[in-house]
Amino acid sequence: MILDKRVDGRTKLTGLIGNPVEHTVSPVIHNSLFSYLGINGVYLPLKTEATQLEAAVRGLAALGFTGFNVTIPYKEAICGLLDEADEEVKLLGTANTVRIRDGRLYGYNTDGTGFVTAFKKQTGTDFSGKKVCILGAGGTARTLAVKVVQEGAGRVCIINRTVSKAEVIAGYINNRLSAGSGLREPVFTLMPGTERAREILNSFDIIINTTSVGMFPNTDASPVEDDVEFLSKPIVYDVIYNPAETRFLAAARQKGCRVFNGAGMLLWQGIRAFEIWMEISVPDDVLQDLSASFLKCMEA
Ligand code: ATR
Repeated sequence: MILDKRVDGRTKLTGLIGNPVEHTVSPVIHNSLFSYLGINGVYLPLKTEATQLEAAVRGLAALGFTGFNVTIPYKEAICGLLDEADEEVKLLGTANTVRIRDGRLYGYNTDGTGFVTAFKKQTGTDFSGKKVCILGAGGTARTLAVKVVQEGAGRVCIINRTVSKAEVIAGYINNRLSAGSGLREPVFTLMPGTERAREILNSFDIIINTTSVGMFPNTDASPVEDDVEFLSKPIVYDVIYNPAETRFLAAARQKGCRVFNGAGMLLWQGIRAFEIWMEISVPDDVLQDLSASFLKCMEA
Protein backbone atom coordinates (compact mmCIF):
# COMPACT_ATOMS: atom_id res chain seq x y z
CA MET A 1 0.00 0.00 0.00
CA ILE A 2 1.22 3.50 -0.82
CA LEU A 3 0.81 5.52 2.37
CA ASP A 4 -1.09 8.80 1.99
CA LYS A 5 0.76 11.41 4.03
CA ARG A 6 -0.95 14.47 2.62
CA VAL A 7 -2.82 15.39 5.80
CA ASP A 8 -1.12 15.78 9.16
CA GLY A 9 -1.43 17.85 12.33
CA ARG A 10 -0.20 21.01 10.57
CA THR A 11 -2.52 20.90 7.57
CA LYS A 12 -4.24 24.23 6.94
CA LEU A 13 -7.99 23.69 6.85
CA THR A 14 -10.30 25.49 4.40
CA GLY A 15 -13.66 24.65 2.90
CA LEU A 16 -17.01 25.66 1.51
CA ILE A 17 -20.16 26.29 3.53
CA GLY A 18 -23.38 26.07 1.56
CA ASN A 19 -26.37 23.91 0.75
CA PRO A 20 -26.30 22.04 -1.57
CA VAL A 21 -22.57 21.53 -2.07
CA GLU A 22 -22.66 18.09 -3.71
CA HIS A 23 -21.82 19.40 -7.20
CA THR A 24 -19.18 21.96 -6.25
CA VAL A 25 -15.94 22.05 -8.26
CA SER A 26 -14.25 24.58 -5.97
CA PRO A 27 -12.22 21.80 -4.24
CA VAL A 28 -10.53 21.16 -7.60
CA ILE A 29 -9.28 24.77 -7.70
CA HIS A 30 -8.05 25.00 -4.12
CA ASN A 31 -6.65 21.50 -3.71
CA SER A 32 -4.79 21.85 -7.04
CA LEU A 33 -3.27 25.11 -5.78
CA PHE A 34 -2.27 23.50 -2.47
CA SER A 35 -0.55 20.60 -4.29
CA TYR A 36 1.05 22.69 -7.02
CA LEU A 37 2.43 25.28 -4.61
CA GLY A 38 3.51 22.65 -2.08
CA ILE A 39 1.36 24.16 0.67
CA ASN A 40 0.16 21.74 3.35
CA GLY A 41 -3.56 22.47 3.10
CA VAL A 42 -6.91 20.99 2.21
CA TYR A 43 -10.28 22.34 1.03
CA LEU A 44 -13.48 20.47 1.90
CA PRO A 45 -17.16 20.86 0.95
CA LEU A 46 -19.06 21.47 4.22
CA LYS A 47 -22.79 21.09 3.69
CA THR A 48 -24.56 23.19 6.31
CA GLU A 49 -28.24 23.38 7.23
CA ALA A 50 -29.66 26.88 7.67
CA THR A 51 -30.45 26.28 11.34
CA GLN A 52 -26.81 25.29 11.92
CA LEU A 53 -25.08 28.13 10.08
CA GLU A 54 -23.94 30.03 13.14
CA ALA A 55 -22.91 26.87 14.99
CA ALA A 56 -20.98 25.67 11.94
CA VAL A 57 -19.15 28.98 11.52
CA ARG A 58 -18.27 29.17 15.22
CA GLY A 59 -17.12 25.56 14.96
CA LEU A 60 -14.75 26.34 12.09
CA ALA A 61 -13.24 29.18 14.11
CA ALA A 62 -12.96 26.93 17.19
CA LEU A 63 -11.26 24.21 15.12
CA GLY A 64 -8.65 26.60 13.80
CA PHE A 65 -9.74 26.73 10.15
CA THR A 66 -7.72 29.23 8.13
CA GLY A 67 -10.79 30.36 6.23
CA PHE A 68 -13.77 29.26 4.18
CA ASN A 69 -15.93 30.12 1.21
CA VAL A 70 -19.65 30.73 1.48
CA THR A 71 -22.09 29.88 -1.27
CA ILE A 72 -25.84 29.72 -1.88
CA PRO A 73 -27.90 30.35 0.20
CA TYR A 74 -25.69 31.95 2.89
CA LYS A 75 -23.83 34.81 1.17
CA GLU A 76 -26.07 37.39 2.87
CA ALA A 77 -26.61 35.60 6.19
CA ILE A 78 -22.86 35.25 6.75
CA CYS A 79 -22.52 39.03 6.87
CA GLY A 80 -24.32 39.07 10.23
CA LEU A 81 -21.67 36.77 11.71
CA LEU A 82 -18.56 38.66 10.60
CA ASP A 83 -16.32 40.63 12.96
CA GLU A 84 -15.07 42.78 10.07
CA ALA A 85 -16.11 43.27 6.46
CA ASP A 86 -14.10 44.71 3.58
CA GLU A 87 -15.39 47.55 1.38
CA GLU A 88 -16.75 45.16 -1.25
CA VAL A 89 -18.85 43.32 1.36
CA LYS A 90 -20.20 46.61 2.71
CA LEU A 91 -21.04 47.75 -0.81
CA LEU A 92 -22.68 44.51 -1.93
CA GLY A 93 -24.18 43.21 1.32
CA THR A 94 -22.86 39.73 0.51
CA ALA A 95 -19.67 37.82 1.30
CA ASN A 96 -18.29 34.67 -0.29
CA THR A 97 -14.94 34.42 1.51
CA VAL A 98 -14.05 34.46 5.20
CA ARG A 99 -10.54 34.56 6.65
CA ILE A 100 -10.25 33.45 10.28
CA ARG A 101 -7.48 35.04 12.32
CA ASP A 102 -7.18 34.66 16.11
CA GLY A 103 -10.78 33.45 16.14
CA ARG A 104 -12.06 36.58 14.40
CA LEU A 105 -13.97 36.45 11.13
CA TYR A 106 -12.93 38.80 8.30
CA GLY A 107 -15.35 38.87 5.35
CA TYR A 108 -14.56 39.47 1.68
CA ASN A 109 -16.45 39.31 -1.58
CA THR A 110 -14.29 37.95 -4.40
CA ASP A 111 -17.15 37.26 -6.85
CA GLY A 112 -17.06 40.71 -8.43
CA THR A 113 -13.31 40.89 -8.93
CA GLY A 114 -13.34 37.24 -10.01
CA PHE A 115 -15.87 38.05 -12.69
CA VAL A 116 -14.02 41.15 -13.91
CA THR A 117 -10.67 39.32 -14.03
CA ALA A 118 -12.18 36.37 -15.88
CA PHE A 119 -14.02 38.60 -18.32
CA LYS A 120 -10.95 40.67 -19.18
CA LYS A 121 -8.63 37.69 -19.51
CA GLN A 122 -11.05 35.57 -21.53
CA THR A 123 -12.47 38.23 -23.83
CA GLY A 124 -9.42 40.51 -24.15
CA THR A 125 -11.69 43.52 -23.61
CA ASP A 126 -13.14 45.53 -20.73
CA PHE A 127 -16.31 47.40 -19.75
CA SER A 128 -15.17 50.93 -20.40
CA GLY A 129 -17.92 52.85 -22.24
CA LYS A 130 -19.73 49.59 -23.06
CA LYS A 131 -23.46 48.98 -23.19
CA VAL A 132 -24.04 46.14 -20.73
CA CYS A 133 -27.27 44.16 -20.28
CA ILE A 134 -27.68 42.03 -17.16
CA LEU A 135 -30.31 39.30 -17.04
CA GLY A 136 -31.57 38.64 -13.51
CA ALA A 137 -31.74 40.68 -10.32
CA GLY A 138 -30.55 38.38 -7.53
CA GLY A 139 -27.34 38.58 -5.51
CA THR A 140 -25.09 37.79 -8.48
CA ALA A 141 -26.79 40.41 -10.66
CA ARG A 142 -26.30 42.99 -7.94
CA THR A 143 -22.59 42.14 -7.63
CA LEU A 144 -21.97 42.22 -11.37
CA ALA A 145 -24.04 45.36 -11.98
CA VAL A 146 -22.04 47.23 -9.33
CA LYS A 147 -18.76 45.96 -10.78
CA VAL A 148 -19.51 46.86 -14.41
CA VAL A 149 -20.43 50.40 -13.30
CA GLN A 150 -17.22 50.63 -11.27
CA GLU A 151 -15.38 49.40 -14.37
CA GLY A 152 -16.70 52.28 -16.45
CA ALA A 153 -19.72 50.89 -18.34
CA GLY A 154 -21.52 53.58 -20.35
CA ARG A 155 -25.06 52.15 -20.26
CA VAL A 156 -26.47 49.42 -18.05
CA CYS A 157 -29.84 47.69 -18.39
CA ILE A 158 -31.16 45.07 -15.96
CA ILE A 159 -33.83 42.69 -17.26
CA ASN A 160 -35.70 40.56 -14.72
CA ARG A 161 -39.14 38.92 -14.53
CA THR A 162 -39.62 40.51 -11.09
CA VAL A 163 -38.88 43.99 -12.35
CA SER A 164 -39.17 45.50 -8.85
CA LYS A 165 -36.00 43.60 -7.83
CA ALA A 166 -34.17 45.04 -10.84
CA GLU A 167 -35.37 48.50 -9.82
CA VAL A 168 -33.88 48.09 -6.36
CA ILE A 169 -30.43 47.38 -7.85
CA ALA A 170 -30.75 50.18 -10.40
CA GLY A 171 -31.87 52.61 -7.68
CA TYR A 172 -28.96 51.64 -5.43
CA ILE A 173 -26.42 52.22 -8.21
CA ASN A 174 -28.05 55.41 -9.47
CA ASN A 175 -28.15 56.89 -5.95
CA ARG A 176 -24.84 55.67 -4.59
CA LEU A 177 -22.42 54.97 -7.44
CA SER A 178 -23.32 56.88 -10.57
CA ALA A 179 -21.56 60.15 -9.62
CA GLY A 180 -18.13 60.09 -11.23
CA SER A 181 -18.88 56.82 -13.05
CA GLY A 182 -18.82 56.39 -16.82
CA LEU A 183 -22.62 56.06 -17.00
CA ARG A 184 -24.10 58.19 -19.78
CA GLU A 185 -27.62 57.67 -18.38
CA PRO A 186 -29.06 56.09 -15.20
CA VAL A 187 -29.17 52.30 -14.98
CA PHE A 188 -32.59 51.23 -16.29
CA THR A 189 -34.76 48.12 -16.02
CA LEU A 190 -37.04 46.12 -18.30
CA MET A 191 -39.38 43.14 -18.24
CA PRO A 192 -38.14 40.11 -20.22
CA GLY A 193 -39.92 39.41 -23.51
CA THR A 194 -40.91 43.02 -24.21
CA GLU A 195 -40.15 44.79 -27.48
CA ARG A 196 -37.78 47.14 -25.67
CA ALA A 197 -35.92 44.20 -24.08
CA ARG A 198 -35.52 42.69 -27.54
CA GLU A 199 -34.07 45.95 -28.83
CA ILE A 200 -31.50 45.94 -26.04
CA LEU A 201 -30.50 42.33 -26.79
CA ASN A 202 -30.06 43.36 -30.43
CA SER A 203 -28.04 46.50 -29.82
CA PHE A 204 -25.92 46.15 -26.64
CA ASP A 205 -22.20 45.19 -26.50
CA ILE A 206 -22.23 42.73 -23.59
CA ILE A 207 -25.03 40.50 -22.28
CA ILE A 208 -24.59 38.67 -18.98
CA ASN A 209 -26.97 36.01 -17.69
CA THR A 210 -27.00 35.84 -13.89
CA THR A 211 -30.27 33.89 -13.58
CA SER A 212 -30.31 30.17 -12.89
CA VAL A 213 -32.40 29.60 -16.01
CA GLY A 214 -30.78 26.86 -18.12
CA MET A 215 -28.74 25.40 -15.27
CA PHE A 216 -28.55 21.61 -14.87
CA PRO A 217 -30.96 19.79 -14.72
CA ASN A 218 -33.25 22.33 -16.46
CA THR A 219 -31.04 22.56 -19.52
CA ASP A 220 -33.94 23.10 -21.96
CA ALA A 221 -34.71 26.52 -20.50
CA SER A 222 -33.24 29.86 -21.63
CA PRO A 223 -33.51 33.36 -20.14
CA VAL A 224 -34.20 34.81 -23.61
CA GLU A 225 -36.53 33.71 -26.40
CA ASP A 226 -34.96 31.41 -29.01
CA ASP A 227 -35.65 33.81 -31.85
CA VAL A 228 -33.60 36.72 -30.45
CA GLU A 229 -31.07 37.56 -33.18
CA PHE A 230 -28.30 39.30 -31.17
CA LEU A 231 -27.88 41.64 -34.16
CA SER A 232 -25.03 43.66 -32.60
CA LYS A 233 -23.01 40.43 -32.04
CA PRO A 234 -22.47 41.12 -28.34
CA ILE A 235 -20.09 39.24 -26.08
CA VAL A 236 -22.41 36.86 -24.22
CA TYR A 237 -21.50 35.64 -20.76
CA ASP A 238 -23.42 33.10 -18.69
CA VAL A 239 -22.45 32.70 -15.04
CA ILE A 240 -23.73 29.10 -15.28
CA TYR A 241 -20.96 26.52 -15.88
CA ASN A 242 -23.07 23.36 -15.71
CA PRO A 243 -23.83 22.64 -18.52
CA ALA A 244 -20.68 24.07 -20.11
CA GLU A 245 -22.84 25.54 -22.87
CA THR A 246 -26.35 26.54 -21.85
CA ARG A 247 -29.15 26.76 -24.38
CA PHE A 248 -28.74 30.55 -24.14
CA LEU A 249 -25.01 30.41 -24.99
CA ALA A 250 -25.56 27.90 -27.80
CA ALA A 251 -28.17 30.17 -29.41
CA ALA A 252 -25.91 33.23 -29.11
CA ARG A 253 -22.92 31.33 -30.52
CA GLN A 254 -24.99 30.10 -33.46
CA LYS A 255 -25.89 33.73 -34.17
CA GLY A 256 -22.23 34.75 -34.33
CA CYS A 257 -21.57 35.95 -30.78
CA ARG A 258 -18.46 35.18 -28.73
CA VAL A 259 -19.72 33.23 -25.72
CA PHE A 260 -18.24 32.41 -22.31
CA ASN A 261 -19.53 30.31 -19.43
CA GLY A 262 -19.11 30.90 -15.70
CA ALA A 263 -16.08 28.65 -15.21
CA GLY A 264 -13.72 31.62 -15.48
CA MET A 265 -15.57 33.60 -12.83
CA LEU A 266 -15.59 30.55 -10.55
CA LEU A 267 -11.86 30.08 -11.06
CA TRP A 268 -10.81 33.69 -10.46
CA GLN A 269 -13.02 34.25 -7.41
CA GLY A 270 -11.47 31.07 -6.00
CA ILE A 271 -7.91 32.17 -6.71
CA ARG A 272 -8.53 35.49 -4.97
CA ALA A 273 -10.01 33.68 -1.94
CA PHE A 274 -6.97 31.39 -1.83
CA GLU A 275 -4.65 34.40 -1.88
CA ILE A 276 -6.58 35.98 1.00
CA TRP A 277 -6.36 32.84 3.13
CA MET A 278 -2.72 32.05 2.39
CA GLU A 279 -1.64 35.71 2.35
CA ILE A 280 0.29 35.21 -0.88
CA SER A 281 0.06 36.25 -4.53
CA VAL A 282 -0.15 33.17 -6.71
CA PRO A 283 2.65 33.52 -9.33
CA ASP A 284 1.56 34.28 -12.92
CA ASP A 285 2.95 31.07 -14.40
CA VAL A 286 0.96 29.03 -11.88
CA LEU A 287 -2.19 31.02 -12.66
CA GLN A 288 -1.75 30.39 -16.36
CA ASP A 289 -1.16 26.70 -15.85
CA LEU A 290 -4.13 26.32 -13.51
CA SER A 291 -6.39 28.43 -15.70
CA ALA A 292 -5.58 26.42 -18.85
CA SER A 293 -6.18 23.07 -17.12
CA PHE A 294 -9.28 24.15 -15.21
CA LEU A 295 -11.07 25.87 -18.10
CA LYS A 296 -10.33 22.87 -20.35
CA CYS A 297 -11.69 20.48 -17.73
CA MET A 298 -14.86 22.61 -17.43
CA GLU A 299 -15.49 22.46 -21.20
CA ALA A 300 -16.01 18.71 -21.13
P1 ATR B 1 -28.04 34.47 -7.08
O1 ATR B 1 -27.60 34.79 -5.70
O2 ATR B 1 -27.26 33.35 -7.73
O3 ATR B 1 -28.12 35.66 -7.96
P2 ATR B 1 -30.85 34.58 -6.61
O4 ATR B 1 -30.61 35.74 -5.73
O5 ATR B 1 -31.77 33.48 -6.17
O6 ATR B 1 -29.50 33.84 -6.97
O7 ATR B 1 -31.35 35.15 -8.05
C1 ATR B 1 -31.78 34.31 -9.06
C2 ATR B 1 -32.22 35.15 -10.25
O8 ATR B 1 -32.67 34.25 -11.27
C3 ATR B 1 -33.38 36.08 -9.96
O9 ATR B 1 -33.23 37.23 -10.76
C4 ATR B 1 -34.59 35.27 -10.45
O10 ATR B 1 -35.70 36.03 -10.89
P3 ATR B 1 -36.74 36.68 -9.84
O11 ATR B 1 -36.01 37.87 -9.26
O12 ATR B 1 -37.90 37.08 -10.67
O13 ATR B 1 -37.05 35.62 -8.84
C5 ATR B 1 -34.00 34.58 -11.64
N1 ATR B 1 -34.74 33.37 -11.97
C6 ATR B 1 -34.70 32.18 -11.32
N2 ATR B 1 -35.53 31.30 -11.90
C7 ATR B 1 -36.12 31.95 -12.95
C8 ATR B 1 -37.06 31.58 -13.95
N3 ATR B 1 -37.57 30.35 -14.02
N4 ATR B 1 -37.41 32.51 -14.87
C9 ATR B 1 -36.89 33.76 -14.85
N5 ATR B 1 -35.99 34.17 -13.91
C10 ATR B 1 -35.61 33.28 -12.98
